[in-house]
Amino acid sequence: MKVLKNIEETREEIIQVKKIGQRVGFVPTMGYLHKGHLSLVEKAVKENDYVAVSVFVNPTQFGPDEDYDRYPRAIKRDEKLLRKRGVDLLFYPHVQEMYPADYCTYVQVEELTETLCGASRPGHFQGVTTIVNKLFNIVGPDRAYFGQKDGQQFLIIEKMIKDLNMGVKVVPCPTVREEDGLALSSRNKYLDSRERRAATILYRTLQMVKERIDSGERDGLKIKKAMEDMVAREKLARLDYAAIVDRRNLKQVEKVKGPMMAALAVFIGDTRLIDNIWLEV
Ligand code: PAF
Repeated sequence: MKVLKNIEETREEIIQVKKIGQRVGFVPTMGYLHKGHLSLVEKAVKENDYVAVSVFVNPTQFGPDEDYDRYPRAIKRDEKLLRKRGVDLLFYPHVQEMYPADYCTYVQVEELTETLCGASRPGHFQGVTTIVNKLFNIVGPDRAYFGQKDGQQFLIIEKMIKDLNMGVKVVPCPTVREEDGLALSSRNKYLDSRERRAATILYRTLQMVKERIDSGERDGLKIKKAMEDMVAREKLARLDYAAIVDRRNLKQVEKVKGPMMAALAVFIGDTRLIDNIWLEV
């Protein structure tokens, strides 16, 4: 596996790979890899001739009071895990390589970024779409792999690719969970043992939504209220948002019908966790 930090070297490597007709799969990450990331990597290795993974904790997607500085980093461990999975290239740039001092260009998807996490974290998705664009321009992937755990991020990136005619196929990968249902996330590391137990509230709430819909409930506002009430009963939890939205526009629905996403963001202590499930109704 090659480890490159430089944009021009990475671009040159990809030019050579494409010259011999290889299909490039790409997994962008912020590192501190867990089984969720590795499921994306394994899928990419299976489906492509050549696989590139990026590890870059992207400062533009963190708000000023968020956890950019303390976001967990473990590049040596990540490198080992990727090598073992047969990855061809690890792109691991410095912040100055991606955002030099005179940097001033951003990519903004409208509407889909205004709800859910976009409402709670202003500027977050602009940071995500900007870095994903830059990484796509550097790595030139045929396919790019993203986890459904970041459901809104996935739908925004899919829309950006369509709107900007980017010619990258975006591949959704199912959320990987612990045995008790907690979705894997690098931020789970912040939880102490009491918080870790309380964190299952996200999955339990989503299971409740699924059960209600399976038993015929179609009132979106009733379901939203039931989600809020359930989170309120967990002492260590503080709700950021709970919603059941249409996946085409990410707006809260009154009537549950079509491609739906039930999503929530909850603070467990100081740690903000998100989760979602997709439903066809
Ligand atoms: O999902 C993530 O880890 C990040 O948002 C991404 C897509 C790597 C962009 O920094």
